[in-house]
Amino acid sequence: MAVPHLIRRGVSGGSPLHPLRGLLFASQEFGRRSLSSETGDAAAQLKGAREEVKQLLKATSCHPILVRLGWHDSGTYDKNITEWPKCGGANGSLRFEIELKHGANAGLVNALKLIQPIKDKYSGVTYADLFQLSSATAIEEAGGPKIPMVYGRVDVAAPEQCPPEGRLPAAGPPSPAEHLREVFYRMGLNDKEIVALSGAHTLGRARPERSGWGKPETKYTKNGPGAPGGQSWTSQWLKFDNSYFKDVKERRDEDLLVLPTDAVLFEDSSFKFYAEKYAVDQDAFFSDYAEAHAKLSNLGAKFDPPKGFSLN
Ligand code: HEM
Repeated sequence: MAVPHLIRRGVSGGSPLHPLRGLLFASQEFGRRSLSSETGDAAAQLKGAREEVKQLLKATSCHPILVRLGWHDSGTYDKNITEWPKCGGANGSLRFEIELKHGANAGLVNALKLIQPIKDKYSGVTYADLFQLSSATAIEEAGGPKIPMVYGRVDVAAPEQCPPEGRLPAAGPPSPAEHLREVFYRMGLNDKEIVALSGAHTLGRARPERSGWGKPETKYTKNGPGAPGGQSWTSQWLKFDNSYFKDVKERRDEDLLVLPTDAVLFEDSSFKFYAEKYAVDQDAFFSDYAEAHAKLSNLGAKFDPPKGFSLN
């Protein structure tokens, strides 16, 4: 294991008693390794973690909640704040209890519990990277597009660095279009990206006991897979495709969910242009989704090395 690399990137967690801290002296004695060798070590750890995420997905069908975890870590970004980590974003702050307790994050503690053993095994991978790696891998494994991801995100160190509550979108605001623009424009995202990213709701369910949205169960969710219950946006809610746009448009089945912020994608003329396109052209959706997801995953991230690195 590349000790200097782990020290340089801070070995997230923030505990002064972290077992790897004791290795600092050893790393100083042996001197620093070259940047490319450190990046190689980090890439090897990330690849190991990626394999474990794939196994986890196979065993538990937790694709949707891992996508939500990545999105809720990065979606707190405020482009108007230049100071890191005050700007929020993909910095691993969602691992702290104070942020997990934000209303919008109800249930995400379960996602953290699922991936914590992977974090323990690959401790050189930051939480910020692991959240985004898990999300992108879940999309790809569910049949979605390959996402051009970059890694090397640095973690915040302490709960005091978590963003304030209220930066994520609400599902039933008085003016859904205005609300979506206010929240996503603050992140630096545009109308096309809002619509493409909303297509992630092709996966997963809403649960009344978490968000307050959705039915307790439907014909599509009563037998799982995973913990049964909730209401999905699509009938095959573990398959990433463009059925979200078809189903939200047609509204032919009361067992499928349409939030006010989903419905508005076919009501607002600028959103509608993209939503109609994605409903008939899955390739266009996949291409725009992959680009928007990668952008979302980088919001507010501080990379080490500064431009990050990709895995092949
Ligand atoms: C556009 C504004 C958005 C709103 C208002 C919204 C709202 C919600 C709500 C209320 C739930 C149900 C949570 C629960 O009860 O457990 C949910 C689930 C989900 N959201 Fe969103 N969301 C938005 C955007 C996004 C984006 C941008 C992504 C990803 C790129 C995303 C991915 C997901 C996924 C995958 C689930 C299912 C989670 C599960 O099954 O455990 N959402 N969202």
